[in-house]
Amino acid sequence: MASVQFLSGKRILLVIAGGIAAYKSLDLIRRAREHGASVRAVLTAAATQFITPLSVAALTEDKVYQDLFSLTDESEMGHIRLSRMADVVVLAPATANILAKLAHGLCDDLATTALLAADKPILAAPAMNHRMWHHPATQANLHLLTDRGVRIVPPTEGSMACGEHGIGRMAEPADIIGAVATLLADTGCPETDGIPPADGRLRGRRALVTSGPTREPIDPVRYISNHSSGRQGHAIAAALAAAGAEVVLVSGPTLLPDPPDCRVVRVETARDMLAACQTTLPRDIVVCAAAVADWRVESDATQKIKKGAGGPPVLHLVENPDILATLAAPGPDRPTLVVGFAAETETVLEHARAKRVRKRCDWIVANDVSPATGTFGGTMNTVHLLRGDTVDSWPPLDKDEVARRLVAAVADRFAAATVDPG
Ligand code: C5P
Repeated sequence: MASVQFLSGKRILLVIAGGIAAYKSLDLIRRAREHGASVRAVLTAAATQFITPLSVAALTEDKVYQDLFSLTDESEMGHIRLSRMADVVVLAPATANILAKLAHGLCDDLATTALLAADKPILAAPAMNHRMWHHPATQANLHLLTDRGVRIVPPTEGSMACGEHGIGRMAEPADIIGAVATLLADTGCPETDGIPPADGRLRGRRALVTSGPTREPIDPVRYISNHSSGRQGHAIAAALAAAGAEVVLVSGPTLLPDPPDCRVVRVETARDMLAACQTTLPRDIVVCAAAVADWRVESDATQKIKKGAGGPPVLHLVENPDILATLAAPGPDRPTLVVGFAAETETVLEHARAKRVRKRCDWIVANDVSPATGTFGGTMNTVHLLRGDTVDSWPPLDKDEVARRLVAAVADRFAAATVDPG
């Protein structure tokens, strides 16, 4: 069995189904968090008959997700993103019913939909009456699931809540924790190098994040923009909020849902983005992840430009304000920590170093966005974090993981400042 140290910094999506063993899942949450993991929970309707969402929310220190059709849940954290934001999915207790649904692809509530949409390893801890456990249907479902890579922590033998005796009691939380650690180790979930999660460490700090592209109008129907999806900036905003910071996200046009617990200001142009950022000052932390258009058309046409005898129009471009450089400039409202991004297609570190000095930001996150990397619009990112002369090069990581690591570094920076103001 892998060491439970492996859980440190990992994110568990815990699906709790409706069985009497649900009470043990409360202890599971507590233990997982003691080992440094964070837990986000989804409850089935039946689970709420056994334990209350309030107990789960208190133990996870997070919102509890229950309703597939809740507009709030969908806008804050769509069912697809529930597993994208996790390293592992744990189904405990796994009732005969939810195992049957997962085996056959049924998804009629948030829990089963999140399980079916999961792109992360799944571990299930079954709990049921011993006759239900031995039933050929349940056993066939378990075979189907294990063949598809679902890891099962078998139930144990003993007296059951129904008064009968046999196999069907959910494994003890400590054993489930051990199995989660083993699953993470076996599936090669990246080690967090002992980086603790930033849970709550940024409480009381005010953060501003820019994200997405900007759109610079040519006329009422045309614009200049770029391929930025906003994924990295949105993930950073979510990670800062998860760390307890009060976050304003100023975002250019993206298709992404608003990250949980952030105030989102949507803008179109670079000038709007700068104005929106300035109204949020003073801030402790600024992360400029937006791909701001460098130029705009000097005077955009008020009516659609027509094809005509004069040939194609000549657009006269002027430079946009540099939001990062403006926010990082010395002054009374200068945030304590300003982090910029340097998206480069060649000599990445060299350009990033020069950019950090030129824009006077404290840190810069350099990434290679040459088309072969698939970074722009993709879910993975390979970055180098430049802090003064120090360069930390991270392996290719999911953008959520890049965000989590960056926010852990921000939390360390503020913790160090509290101890040593110099
Ligand atoms: O100069 P370049 O666009 O490569 O700089 C990238 C960094 O500067 C990013 O952090 C980006 O958000 C920020 N930036 C900005 N305003 C601009 C251009 C870039 O805030 N007009």
